[in-house]
Amino acid sequence: MRNFVETHDGPLGSVSGRALLGRAIKGVMLAPILILGVTSASAETVDAARIVKDSCAACHTQSGNSVAPPFPKLAGMAPSYLAKQMRDVASGARKSDIMAPIMAEMERGEINALADYFARQPRTPGIVTHPDLVEEGERIYREGNKENGVPACAGCHTQDGGGAPRFPMIAAQNADYVVQQLKSFRDGERANDFGKLMRTVVSRLSEAEILAVAQYVASMPVPPAAR
Ligand code: HEC
Ligand code: HEC
Repeated sequence: MRNFVETHDGPLGSVSGRALLGRAIKGVMLAPILILGVTSASAETVDAARIVKDSCAACHTQSGNSVAPPFPKLAGMAPSYLAKQMRDVASGARKSDIMAPIMAEMERGEINALADYFARQPRTPGIVTHPDLVEEGERIYREGNKENGVPACAGCHTQDGGGAPRFPMIAAQNADYVVQQLKSFRDGERANDFGKLMRTVVSRLSEAEILAVAQYVASMPVPPAAR
């Protein structure tokens, strides 16, 4: 709803909007503004399911439960987190050769509608590929590693892995994707975490700990959908 107000009512109600309107009345700008107002997307008018079918499902599936291990599941994650990631990809704050050209085309209303759509999809259970690593991974997730100063993942991502608005749901995520993200935070390739929180955490994780914690994350039961 907020998006609707910003894109449609904003230009007429806000201070800058009134300035624009003033100019429009003096000149010939009124018509283009009205046309823009009608055609620009808002979360309410976007057909998210259709965009997903045409532009996302090949990698993320229609329900956001990506099957290919390197592609992240999106189902059940907080809409604000999903939207932030899409905006970060569009602005270049999060580098992704695959996602960048797709997000470059998206309007804000479309991003918000897609985030709402995926947040509402039920998440499927994760797949464990190395059951022998789950126990060590659980220890790191719940307690961290005092020897090398790794904090417990649970401290931010919560005990059940469901997360909080700024801390993403990671339970039941694809293990390969988790490994890949931990490594790209470590190597500074992904640097869109506020306060450098994740980059600081992973700078202390060993390679073996990364593999183990990813297996535990994949094994975690599906938590209630985030908000
Ligand atoms: C060709 C495959 C592909 C397509 C098509 C695709 N994505 Fe992605 N998506 C990825 C990959 C790979 C990543 C992981 C980004 C990275 O780190 O490189 C990703 C990441 C994301 C993320 C961040 C998830 C997280 O947990 O941080 C969101 C949100 C997302 N995609 C949404 C979408 C939406 C919405 C569409 C359609 C409009 C879409 N993607 C189309 C491959 C794809
Ligand atoms: C101090 C808080 C904090 C701790 C501790 C923490 N994280 Fe994170 N993590 C974050 C934040 C914040 C983000 C989101 C960054 C952003 O906004 O893009 C994140 C993102 C992630 C992501 C990317 C999720 C996605 O879908 O994009 C993964 C995977 C992850 N963390 C795993 C872990 C693991 C495993 C641990 C424990 C070893 C851990 N985190 C500990 C704060 C934390």
